[in-house]
Amino acid sequence: MSERAVRIWIDERAVDVEEGTTVGAALWNARVIRWRTAVGGTPRGPLCAMGTCFECRVEIDGVRDRRACLEPCRADMRVRTGG
Ligand code: FES
Repeated sequence: MSERAVRIWIDERAVDVEEGTTVGAALWNARVIRWRTAVGGTPRGPLCAMGTCFECRVEIDGVRDRRACLEPCRADMRVRTGG
């Protein structure tokens, strides 16, 4: 893993992480534990951390339904939770 720190934005909040850290790990480290809401109102968050359950979907740089557990953080990435 690269040791270069990059700044990403989680719901307009600046968060510094090591480049290549997954978005899911960055969210977890930023204490964002439940970042989606199911149709029935149940709070949801990551389950498998390997790309199969789709419970970790977030919006990244304006693109909805990206799996946070698979996406590496890049400088100035914009992550939006709550979908
Ligand atoms: S946590 Fe299961 S797909 Fe990301």
